[in-house]
Amino acid sequence: MKLCIIGAGYVGLTTGACLAEIGHPVIVTDCDQAKIAALQRGEIPIYEEFLDAVVARNQSAGRLQFTTDAPAAIEAADAIFVCVGTPPDHDGKANLAAVERVTRQIAECATGDKLIIGKSTVPVRTADHIRRTLATYTRSGARFQVASNPEFLREGTGIFDFFHPDRIVVGCDGEPAAAGLREIYRPVVEGAFHCPCHDRPANQCGWRPPVWLETSTTSAELIKHAANSFLSLKISYANAIADICELAGADALAVLRGIGLDHRIGEAFLRPGLGFGGFCFPKDLSAFLEIAAELGYDFRLLREVQAINAERVEIFLRKLRESLWVLEDKTLGVLGLAFKPGTDDIRLSPAMAVVQALLARKMRLRVFDPRAMERARRELPAEVIFCDSPEAVAEQAEAVLILTEWPEFRAAVWPRMKARMLRPLVLDGRNLFRPDELARLGFEYVGLGAGAAAPAPLPAAAAR
Ligand code: UGA
Repeated sequence: MKLCIIGAGYVGLTTGACLAEIGHPVIVTDCDQAKIAALQRGEIPIYEEFLDAVVARNQSAGRLQFTTDAPAAIEAADAIFVCVGTPPDHDGKANLAAVERVTRQIAECATGDKLIIGKSTVPVRTADHIRRTLATYTRSGARFQVASNPEFLREGTGIFDFFHPDRIVVGCDGEPAAAGLREIYRPVVEGAFHCPCHDRPANQCGWRPPVWLETSTTSAELIKHAANSFLSLKISYANAIADICELAGADALAVLRGIGLDHRIGEAFLRPGLGFGGFCFPKDLSAFLEIAAELGYDFRLLREVQAINAERVEIFLRKLRESLWVLEDKTLGVLGLAFKPGTDDIRLSPAMAVVQALLARKMRLRVFDPRAMERARRELPAEVIFCDSPEAVAEQAEAVLILTEWPEFRAAVWPRMKARMLRPLVLDGRNLFRPDELARLGFEYVGLGAGAAAPAPLPAAAAR
């Protein structure tokens, strides 16, 4: 099946490369000329494990092409994936201008029948608007099938997730659309692929047949928002439990493990720390709250999830103030800038929020991140010192802060770091270490939820 992907961001680029990898001819188009020119030269604009190899292999096999000529790409395709951004507006609602623009473009230039698949995370009933827009603006009378196929790829592990999905959700309101999507995903559903992450056939790389879930487009759209907000809810729950554990003198990691081992709850997404960030959870939560309100439902539970998450950075900063007393002019080592390990993405990163808050308090910062330095350099002022290793951030530091749980930071030579610090204090915003691990090396260790000296809960007004 000939495929067109509109939008070469995290979702579009990863999905397009993977669809080419399972054998489909794919053309990826984007209005950003510089990005497409870079991709044509074989340069990948984001860090995503295995993506460069998958793109290179399929580009040279002629299965994956990049173009700014959207009309030609649309015309050549049987099915078109809409993967453009839906950034938040000032009121938290998803901005659908790009979705509408490409829908009109498809309507205006397609002459034959097409399957249009929404992959961008959108408010419920967007597919209905897409159908109406296509019918309104088509000049040729082409017939369109519209489907919603939400993506559940995580940044950093997107290629792995594409080939090892728990489920593939396909929202379509008619058999031709369902049949088209079954054909597109058949290799992933049947395990008929060579896994690019393990360089092994599917039956030797831990692949299991995903559940194929066919729903209406409206239900599929809701599944995406409901899934992301449930995962956010788990994280805020874990963070609330961590605060209670500190007050009670209990060990949050033990408590959360104790509940997560119940298979009905599950251990994933119960890691307490600085909270969730990135370009998905925060914006999807706000958008879902707005959608619910428009439908007439006040989703109070999700407002509390947001509020608990918003407190995390301030609670961490209070611990820092309690440890250092005066912050001004002191030097800190900062480990981690990305919103999570495995990515160079710093959008809505809790680590960047901490860094900005420390700069506002006139602290001197020495920072290191294995992948996000280039992006962070564009955002941070010139006085921030960018170091080339975890050890270098420790130089003359009054404390080292762990803000992203990169495995590289566990592997650093901490005794050497201690020797370079003015004071051997570590504040671990991600619980990368157990308290005794660094204490044994002579560090003062402050984690989040480890039952150490607990700050009083924030006053209600400051917490909101
Ligand atoms: C998330 C979802 O996991 C994907 O399924 C979804 O496709 C994607 O959003 C999307 O909507 O496009 P992603 O934002 O890449 O993926 O990152 P996650 O791995 O889910 O982590 C999100 C945030 O939660 C990170 O800041 C992470 O540090 C934080 N987190 C995660 C915790 O604080 N604790 C946890 O236990 C787990």
